[in-house]
Amino acid sequence: MSDELRGQRILITGASMGIGEALAREFAARGAELLLVARSEGKLRALCEELRRMGTPCEYLVADLTKPEQVASLVEKILAQGRLGGVLHNAGAGLYGAFERYAEADVRELFELNFFSVLALTRGLLPLLKKSPRPTLLLVSSIVSWRAIARLSVYSASKSALNGFAEALRVELKPDGIRVVNTYPGRTRTPFSANAKSFGWRPFSTERSGTPPEQVARKLARAYVGGKRDEFVSWSNRLLVWGNFFFPKLIDWGLGKYFQNK
Ligand SMILES: NC(=O)c1ccc[n+]([C@@H]2O[C@H](COP(=O)([O-])OP(=O)(O)OC[C@H]3O[C@@H](n4cnc5c(N)ncnc54)[C@H](OP(=O)(O)O)[C@@H]3O)[C@@H](O)[C@H]2O)c1
Repeated sequence: MSDELRGQRILITGASMGIGEALAREFAARGAELLLVARSEGKLRALCEELRRMGTPCEYLVADLTKPEQVASLVEKILAQGRLGGVLHNAGAGLYGAFERYAEADVRELFELNFFSVLALTRGLLPLLKKSPRPTLLLVSSIVSWRAIARLSVYSASKSALNGFAEALRVELKPDGIRVVNTYPGRTRTPFSANAKSFGWRPFSTERSGTPPEQVARKLARAYVGGKRDEFVSWSNRLLVWGNFFFPKLIDWGLGKYFQNK
C-alpha cells in the first residue's frame, strides 16, 4: 500500500474485469478511494467487498454506458455524492470483421460506449473535478488509434476519435488545473476479444496472449500519478507508430501479411 493517492476519489469505468479490474486493484494499492462502474453487478460487488476488506473505501454503480439516459443518471448520482478527484475512462468493447458486414446499429452502439459515453461523463463531471486538488482524466485508448488494422475499422476509428478529444481537452482544461492523460495499450490478456462482437473474423485471442493486465495497470497508474501526456504501454507499439509515420506502405503490407491467415 502507498499513500500517493490517499484521499483521491477515483471513478473507474469498465471495472468488472480485464484492465479495469486490474486498475481498481492498482489504484487501491496506491491509496485511492474507488467508485466502480460496469454492467455486471455481481462482479463489481465482489471486487468492492474484497477491496474494502483490504482497507480501500469502495463503492459501485451499475450502468450500461451504451445508453445515454443511463450515463446521464450516473452523472447525476455522482454529482449528488459531491466529491471526485479523477476519472479512468476504461470501459470499451471491440467490433471485428469486414466493414461492409457491420450493421449501422452495431457501429453506433460501439461509438456510444467507446466515445460518446466518455464525452458525456467528462462534461457532466467537470464541475466536481474543478473543485478537486490535482484532478486527472485518464483515457484508455488503443495502439490501433495510431495505426488502424483492417477489419477493426470502426473500433480503430472510435479510439482515434478519443485521441482527438483528449489532445484538445488537455490544452482546454489546463487553466482549470485538470490533467488529461491518454494511454495506448497493445494486446492485453483480458476477455476483450471474447467479449467483442464479431462478423466472421476474430484475429487473435486476448484471453491467451498479450501483456498481463496487472502490468498495463501499473504503467497506467504511473502515468496518472506523474500527469504524463501519453503512455504507450509497449516499446514495440511505439516503434510501430514511428514506422507507420515514415513507411506507411510498408506497414500496410506487413500488417496485411501478418493478419491474412488469422
Ligand atoms: N485487451 C486488449 O488487448 C486491449 C488493447 C487496447 C485497448 N484496450 C482497451 O482497454 C479497455 C478495457 O478493455 P479490456 O481488455 O479490459 O476488455 P474487457 O475485459 O472486455 O473489459 C471491458 C470492460 O468494459 C465494461 N463494459 C463493456 N461494455 C459496457 C457497457 N455497455 N456499459 C458499461 N460497461 C461496459 C465491461 O463490464 P461489463 O461487461 O460488466 O459491463 C468490462 O468491465 C477498453 O477500452 C479496450 O478498448 C484493450
